[in-house]
Amino acid sequence: MHTKQDVVNELLRDQPWQDTAAAVTAFAPSNIALAKYWGKRNSQLNLPCNASLSIALADRGAHATVSVASSPSLTLNGETLSLATPHAQRLLQFMRLFGGPRQIEYAVSLSVNIPFAAGLASSACIFASLVLALVEYHGWQLPLTHVSILARLGSGSACRSLYPGFAVWQAGTRDDGMDSYATPLETRWPQLAIGLHLIDTGVKAVSSREGMQRTVETSPLYAAWPDAANQTVTALQQAIASRQFARMGQLAEHNALCMHATMLSAWPPLSYATEHTLQAMRTVWRLRDDGLPVYFTQDAGPNIKLLCQRQDIAMIEPHFPHIQWVFPFTHTARGN
Ligand code: PMV
Repeated sequence: MHTKQDVVNELLRDQPWQDTAAAVTAFAPSNIALAKYWGKRNSQLNLPCNASLSIALADRGAHATVSVASSPSLTLNGETLSLATPHAQRLLQFMRLFGGPRQIEYAVSLSVNIPFAAGLASSACIFASLVLALVEYHGWQLPLTHVSILARLGSGSACRSLYPGFAVWQAGTRDDGMDSYATPLETRWPQLAIGLHLIDTGVKAVSSREGMQRTVETSPLYAAWPDAANQTVTALQQAIASRQFARMGQLAEHNALCMHATMLSAWPPLSYATEHTLQAMRTVWRLRDDGLPVYFTQDAGPNIKLLCQRQDIAMIEPHFPHIQWVFPFTHTARGN
């Protein structure tokens, strides 16, 4: 059985451990999966049962600043975190994997511009930004596939958060996970818009880790999920390469609904939706019936992310008054 530490030691075996005097800051975007990662074949190494495909949220994500310190410390958006909380412990344990031969401790400062632990992939951008900062701090010369593997050890979806635009995480088959990493897709799609319809940004009651495990262990529908999700990843890649928006939207929405169906059929049953989530879904379906090409996806939280094209925003916006738009392929504000 391979441990996270085995993987880190293997990948960093011949790497330098520079201690540059100044702290280093790195950014990683949050990412939203259009074909979801749901279910682990190895929960220690975050190895998935299926491939997944995501899109990065441009400048929404995390900045991580790291430096070597005499004792560990953690700040989140300017506030010092108690190291005793479960979230802090998880980050601390992750950083300890990178202690190296001298058992280095780190001062970590995170600045995250999306709600925390609310199904908006905050853990993905946090762990990815931490690894990018460590790579730069120590001067490691690593291929991005290896950086992706290191980020996966923090949170599965973090392996997709290294790239702008679309990324595919191949599930891999090896026990040590050395073939389970994300790579970017070339296609740029400037017309694409993602709407964040935030229903509840509080910390979710059931973590995705716990939700996945419960689903894999108890849902009779789960057996159908890995193959279906893998096929969706292939179909999405084709839809993206040929910029077929409706095809992409349909594949993404259907994949999210299938994932949530596996959760509903778990025991005890699991649903991240609130009545506002269902209302938003119905609004999307109604707009589509009226001829508007708009689709949604939903992760392990009640919030809905709309997928549409920039030219349709004006027609969609009145139905989602507080929606926040992200343009994955242009960092400029709408209309520029
Ligand atoms: O990486 P985790 O453990 O936070 O799991 C992410 C799970 C989903 O967001 C529901 C799906 C995905 O692929 O991002």
